[in-house]
Amino acid sequence: MNLGILVGAIVAILSCVAGMLIGLTYLCTRRGKPVPALPFYAGGVGVFLVVASLVGHSDLVSALPHLVLAGLEVAAWLGAAFFVFTILDAFLIGEWLIERGQRYIPDIVRQLLIGAEVIAAGVVILWLVMGINLVALVALPTVAAAMVGVALKDTLTRFFSGIELGKLVKVGDWITVLEREGVVTHIGMEHVSLLTRAHDLVSLPNDLVIQSGVTNYARPTTTHFCNVWVDAAYRTPPEQVCATLLETAAAVSGVLPEPKSAAFVAAFNESAIQYRIKFPIGDFSQRDSIESVMRTYIWHAFARKGIEIPFPQRVVHRTANDVGASAGHAVERIIRQLTAVDFLATLDAKQLEALAEGARCESYLPGERIVRQGEPGEVLYVIVSGTVDVRLEQGGLTTTVTTLEPGKFFGEMSLLTGEPRSATVVAATAVSVIAVGKQALLQLIENDRQLIERIGEVVARRQAATAAVKAQLSRDAEALSVVTRTRSLVERIQSFFSGARKTQ
Ligand code: CMP
Repeated sequence: MNLGILVGAIVAILSCVAGMLIGLTYLCTRRGKPVPALPFYAGGVGVFLVVASLVGHSDLVSALPHLVLAGLEVAAWLGAAFFVFTILDAFLIGEWLIERGQRYIPDIVRQLLIGAEVIAAGVVILWLVMGINLVALVALPTVAAAMVGVALKDTLTRFFSGIELGKLVKVGDWITVLEREGVVTHIGMEHVSLLTRAHDLVSLPNDLVIQSGVTNYARPTTTHFCNVWVDAAYRTPPEQVCATLLETAAAVSGVLPEPKSAAFVAAFNESAIQYRIKFPIGDFSQRDSIESVMRTYIWHAFARKGIEIPFPQRVVHRTANDVGASAGHAVERIIRQLTAVDFLATLDAKQLEALAEGARCESYLPGERIVRQGEPGEVLYVIVSGTVDVRLEQGGLTTTVTTLEPGKFFGEMSLLTGEPRSATVVAATAVSVIAVGKQALLQLIENDRQLIERIGEVVARRQAATAAVKAQLSRDAEALSVVTRTRSLVERIQSFFSGARKTQ
């Protein structure tokens, strides 16, 4: 080979190698990874050896013994093969499969693959350059490999479990395995290592981890629902406690706004009602501290709203005096609430007390019916908080006549006229009412003409409005029935004619 061709070939090879290395460097830089030293080193060796091989065919080294030249040539091609396989690994496995395809392929597999490729290339190179056929020598190593395989059974099981594990878990994920919770620090050929919350390093065999199952808190998303249980006294209505818990969860930092938190009545226990607040967090490593903050917030919210977290309790049967005292408190509370109602504003303390003694507090949740149209009724309700809808039903149609607010009353018509309930009254929101019994009201009315007049005025106005709405509903129902009858008649005529046409 003359010098001109030799130099040309060297320049071409160097350009190819440089191109590949520049490509690889660009890829690594774009991915923000350090440029791997191995491909550069392999490239250098490969280039050097291929060049040496070319030189081996030139006149410059023709004087060297044949065996040295053949050895040099084999080494040169092996070096070049190693370089090419390393570059292919970087592009095909590193870039294409791992980075773009998001596949998990452990480093050890990549290294073994390159090794196997170089060995296969070596067999071919030896055969082509030196005429040595290594395939004939394969039978012997096969027996040896089988023996090694049996000896390495456990190691191989762990190795393949490690590959499987790598698909489920990545370094940095929080997991629970075999009742140990920690962040994965390493997935090796045989073991997976966790750093626990107590900062202890736990190593577990890959196959055991796969067999026992893993809970991964980082996949498919980092969202994890935590639960905090809290007790509250029986005297606070559950919906109020649940609402407080939800408000509290929304205020705790580290709790995600979506998916929504949820509050549950968990159990009716001996001393308290148990509640559960379920809330999402995005950083599992902060779970303990977020749960602690949640409990702190709940304590403060409960304290503000007078919700007691009770100590263990026993039921004590009280004497008549105690019961009387408690009833006294209830009457006082009802008197306070009745004082704020404007149509009772003219009542004196004695009248209010008499009324309160014949009354009780009731609460309803949204959608609950307080009175039903058509049923008998002997109770008048005064709204303390929340709103109610008054609904009329007529001829199969329903309409809301009005919405009543705190301070207003309903149920007076049946109580005063003895007629069935003229309408259905439904809680539009959570509602607190004072239910006044017939006797208490009648006693009051008998002695208070002003009150009769005021209630009578309201009843007259309501009856007029109700009658008008009922008349309108009747007309609507009649119109609807005409439309329905017409439609059904048209359908019958159509089907009669289509049947007659078919028989012709
Ligand atoms: P009662 O008939 O005992 O039960 C249904 C109640 O709905 C009725 O008493 C009134 O208090 C109330 N009600 C009926 N019609 C009206 C109306 N038009 N406006 C306000 N309240 C009404």
